[in-house]
Amino acid sequence: MTVIIDGKALRDKLLEQLKLKVDKFEIKPKLVVILVGDNPASLIYVNNKKKTAEKLGIDSEIINYPSNIQEQVLLDKIVELNNDATVTAILVQLPLPEHISKFKVINTISPNKDVDGFTPENFGMLFAGEEPYVYPCTPKGILLMLDEYNIDVDGRHVVIVGRSNIVGKPLSQMLLNRNATVTVCHSHTKNLADITKTADVLISAVGGKIIGENFVKPNSVVIDVGIFKDENGKTRGDVDFEKVAPQTSFITPVPGGVGPMTIASLMLNTVELFEKIRS
Ligand code: GUN
Repeated sequence: MTVIIDGKALRDKLLEQLKLKVDKFEIKPKLVVILVGDNPASLIYVNNKKKTAEKLGIDSEIINYPSNIQEQVLLDKIVELNNDATVTAILVQLPLPEHISKFKVINTISPNKDVDGFTPENFGMLFAGEEPYVYPCTPKGILLMLDEYNIDVDGRHVVIVGRSNIVGKPLSQMLLNRNATVTVCHSHTKNLADITKTADVLISAVGGKIIGENFVKPNSVVIDVGIFKDENGKTRGDVDFEKVAPQTSFITPVPGGVGPMTIASLMLNTVELFEKIRS
């Protein structure tokens, strides 16, 4: 029998617990989200982050720059936020326009306010097997879901499709830290299905419908990180859910799986950074 992992229910549970914690703070955490340009998907994500923060009593602000902003203006703003004691978490929404160096921007954020866990210091700590200030949100949300459903990855083969800095790379390290055997596949991988079919846990983070029924091993766990609108405007993931789900033991839906957990992790990270800064 297939269990459909309920990301929304777990998000709601985690946010409820977090609200009780935030209610007790005399000074509140403050999350600042920087958005460059008006990418419609990014606008939705950013507004969602602010709305969720506000529900928890976390202060939050969106700073929206036009897409032609000079890189230096953005870097100066980050330095200002780093030096502002009322700001405890900074997130620069990705992607950024081509003329802005993503690396320079991320590298300017103070590691102890880096709510994404993307700065070289936090990434380096993660890859060294040490504790970063926080773990990247989407991988963290995935591990929280695996924990909630008692899915143990120790000694099991986890195949990740996608090697992004946001999901695939940090997730691979977090799974290695849990003693999984991890294979990372990507756009140049040959015979992808031959590899994904050997996965006890298959995690797809590509953004296009690529995982069909011939890509999965019977009774495996399938986690779908992809999200896009199909030609009919329907929200879809990387996995052909209707065909794949019956073969799996656990599967995440899109929407309602990984997406809500990413937001929950962002809120958890915001509170964790606040507690670390104040301790
Ligand atoms: N764009 C898509 N996912 C993310 C994320 O987790 N963090 C940031 N900063 N930008 C994103």
